[in-house]
Amino acid sequence: MTKPDHIRIFDTTLRDGEQSPGASMTHGEKLELAALMEDMGVDVIEAGFPAASEGDFASVSEIARRSKEAIICGLSRSTEKDIARCGEAVRNAARPRIHTFISTSPVHMKHKLQMGPNAVLEAVGRSVAQARNLVDDVEWSAEDATRTEFDFLCKCIDVAIQSGATTINIPDTVGYSHPDEYGALFRRLIETIPNSDKVIWSAHCHNDLGLAVANSISAVANGARQVECAINGLGERAGNAALEEVVMALRVRSDTLPYTTNVKSEYLSRASAMLSRITGFPVQYNKAIVGKNAFAHESGIHQDGMLKNSETYEIMKPEDVGVAKTSLVMGKLSGRHAFRDKLESLGYVLEQDALNDAFKRFKALADKKKHVFDDDIVALVDDQLAED
Ligand code: KIV
Ligand code: ZN
Repeated sequence: MTKPDHIRIFDTTLRDGEQSPGASMTHGEKLELAALMEDMGVDVIEAGFPAASEGDFASVSEIARRSKEAIICGLSRSTEKDIARCGEAVRNAARPRIHTFISTSPVHMKHKLQMGPNAVLEAVGRSVAQARNLVDDVEWSAEDATRTEFDFLCKCIDVAIQSGATTINIPDTVGYSHPDEYGALFRRLIETIPNSDKVIWSAHCHNDLGLAVANSISAVANGARQVECAINGLGERAGNAALEEVVMALRVRSDTLPYTTNVKSEYLSRASAMLSRITGFPVQYNKAIVGKNAFAHESGIHQDGMLKNSETYEIMKPEDVGVAKTSLVMGKLSGRHAFRDKLESLGYVLEQDALNDAFKRFKALADKKKHVFDDDIVALVDDQLAED
């Protein structure tokens, strides 16, 4: 029995993440990532799309076979063949799940599916019932839910629940929604749908407007108890909600967001680095939580504050996300306090006059050089001491 304030973290790095152009992963790389996700405490691993290729089928099957506690999920369209293949792939998981979806918005039904609403409703009932015959845990998604007409969305969800779905996912497939609107949609659906308390409500947000994490958090505040996300925010187009940001937003702001996750946050940096190595996608320097600069300070005012008390400019501890320590980067904006601290860490304790002189030389160097490394400082002080 999950606690009402527990948020399930559903990692779709291996499925939606892999749909990101240029991010395909080998079988071995997927196993490596899945193992780390298990260790990290992810609740649900969406391991792939078994009907998409033999390779996807093989990796979902192997991840399922190796799984211990995490739910292993495969994605499947609403066709009989896809669902059967998905069921076969997840069969050996300790906790298997089939995730089946169909589009429900007018634009998708007309142009992509070329199906009318009745045919879509029929497919929802048939696909969920078939999946439920294969496994006890079935997630159903209304693709493009946020551009779907509300009454029709309710009808589809109602059919999915009656056919045996245990999780209902409301994807913001094209990253179109904004936080108030997305949160209100969850609230309204949960209030309207009969038996809404019998299923887990799930958020799946894309980042086309840069709102994926904010939308996911708003969904949680309005009743969602599963968040679908990906390491480093990998995913179609501008990506999915970033797992590390969702986890830390819930953790750091537990004062106003009283929810828990199972994720051991000290794994976040490792997971980010592993995915970046595997895909070759660099992590932007100023990326929240896992960027190189997330715990680095260069301005003198900030460095001085940090040396007095880290709470002045950091809202979480670097070790909480697996970063060894804060770094005070030496540059032209650095102050005397940080410079003295750096010298001490390099083994130099200078008298006041010598320190002033060294600081002047350091500032002159920093004006000319973008990056002042420890070795530059060592050379600068050694030269000065040799002159004295
Ligand atoms: O974005 C989306 O709608 C999806 C579904 C398949 C869940 O990824
Ligand atoms: Zn998606």
